[in-house]
Amino acid sequence: MTGRSNILLIGFMGVGKGALARELVRQEPSYYALDTDDMIESLTNTKIKKIFATAGEKAFRALEQKTADWLARNVTHAVISTGGGFYMVEGLQKIGTVVYLKADFDWIYRRITEAPNAKKKLKKRPLFQDVEKARALFKSRYEAYEKVADIVLDVTKKDTQSLARSLLKKLG
Ligand code: S3P
Repeated sequence: MTGRSNILLIGFMGVGKGALARELVRQEPSYYALDTDDMIESLTNTKIKKIFATAGEKAFRALEQKTADWLARNVTHAVISTGGGFYMVEGLQKIGTVVYLKADFDWIYRRITEAPNAKKKLKKRPLFQDVEKARALFKSRYEAYEKVADIVLDVTKKDTQSLARSLLKKLG
């Protein structure tokens, strides 16, 4: 835990970080919800997919680092959902309490592909274009997420409302 009163949600693509952030804020309105991908799109006026295609992944990671540094310096009382690779930034813990949303890959894959807007969900994620590559990326990150987390929340098959309730309880 850190001195900053933010909750930082990390985890693989499609695990439900944004949905949980919105539900946490609904249940605890003293927080404000932020999303690092949205912040980067707003900062650059460019979609994530386009940043990957034109500037490349390295440039995107640098934008994530800039976002992390700014959040650590300036933001309190926020629930911050992050892109699936944000956990790699330096100084993650300085931003707030890091909560890892843990789930198995097949559940994540079904959650994305069975959503009513599945096409859109897949299209906007450059690192989820090939399912086997995504599975390999998941495996390569699996342990790393847990290492940087203060709290691990198993989200497989759980509904967002009860997850938010139990997380708020854990955080006191
Ligand atoms: C990424 C996850 C994406 C987005 C970018 C890279 C990753 O966010 O930041 O496409 O490296 O896992 P979501 O986790 O919201 O899909």
